Amino acid sequence: MSTTEFTSNYGPWAVVAGASEGIGESFSRQIAAAGINLVLVARRPDPLTALATSLESEFQIQTRPIALDLTDDDMCDRLAEATADIEVGLVVYNAGATHGAVRFHDEPVEKSLGLVRLNCTGPVQLTHHFGGLMRERGRGGIILLSSVSSVSGSARTATYSATKAFDVNLAEGLWAELKPLGVDVLALVAGATHTPAMERSGALIGSAEFPGMDPNDVAREGLANLANGPTWVAGDQNRATYDMLRALPKKDAVGFMSAGARTIYGLPDEP
Ligand SMILES: NC(=O)c1ccc[n+]([C@@H]2O[C@H](COP(=O)([O-])OP(=O)(O)OC[C@H]3O[C@@H](n4cnc5c(N)ncnc54)[C@H](OP(=O)(O)O)[C@@H]3O)[C@@H](O)[C@H]2O)c1
Repeated sequence: MSTTEFTSNYGPWAVVAGASEGIGESFSRQIAAAGINLVLVARRPDPLTALATSLESEFQIQTRPIALDLTDDDMCDRLAEATADIEVGLVVYNAGATHGAVRFHDEPVEKSLGLVRLNCTGPVQLTHHFGGLMRERGRGGIILLSSVSSVSGSARTATYSATKAFDVNLAEGLWAELKPLGVDVLALVAGATHTPAMERSGALIGSAEFPGMDPNDVAREGLANLANGPTWVAGDQNRATYDMLRALPKKDAVGFMSAGARTIYGLPDEP
């Protein structure tokens, strides 16, 4: 798809939820490079404002940085209000990584419920609001970030992998409903990616042993395949792993993913 087609299909404004760093920043830069204006969402205002300023001067686009927590009850109302006067043709719901690998019962239930709000409630709210407007217009695009961990359950990341499976199924169902009406929907399945959030969490991603993908490559594949939904796995190696896992007996897939969660955080084998 040419840049002109991309802009006319998915412009003039995009919302990136979880925009200020990592894969979200890569999405924001690449969307800005296509000439689409950006509503940038994240919790910390300073990195958000810095990104907005840099994108405006580098790409001559308009931005609206909005500092909010995507798990807040009123977040969709606030975003709807902040975008009431503009046409949003593209939504990327990026925020949603889990940080750490902890047994379900070794942390308060609020931790899991927060992840459900971020990865399930948030995407439902934003796709309902913005996707509904896109359906009326007969054009637009939605990308929900998922993970290779969506393919099976996993010890120590049980809620995370469950929410990421939710995102895949949500995107696939919406793809079936909206694609015939002119709106592209994609579940973008990422594997280990070297992001600041992952680095801060103590994950070994980014080390010589587990380099992980470059966030720019994940975003590039997502945007290039937005019209090729319902699902796209970023990276050759991740596609091979994803297919291998889907073909395994479930208990073997769960064992593989559980071992992977431990390995990435340098945790010892369990009894
Ligand atoms: N990194 C990986 O290895 C990997 C692997 C597979 C899939 N993924 C998926 O890729 C996506 C991005 O992951 P990531 O590693 O870059 O980390 P992330 O923490 O999901 O995303 C970072 C961005 O989201 C914002 N954010 C996080 N929580 C937020 C909240 N509650 N409300 C508003 N904004 C929030 C952050 O800014 P603030 O902190 O300022 O809010 C930052 O801009 C996630 O959906 C994740 O599941 C990542």
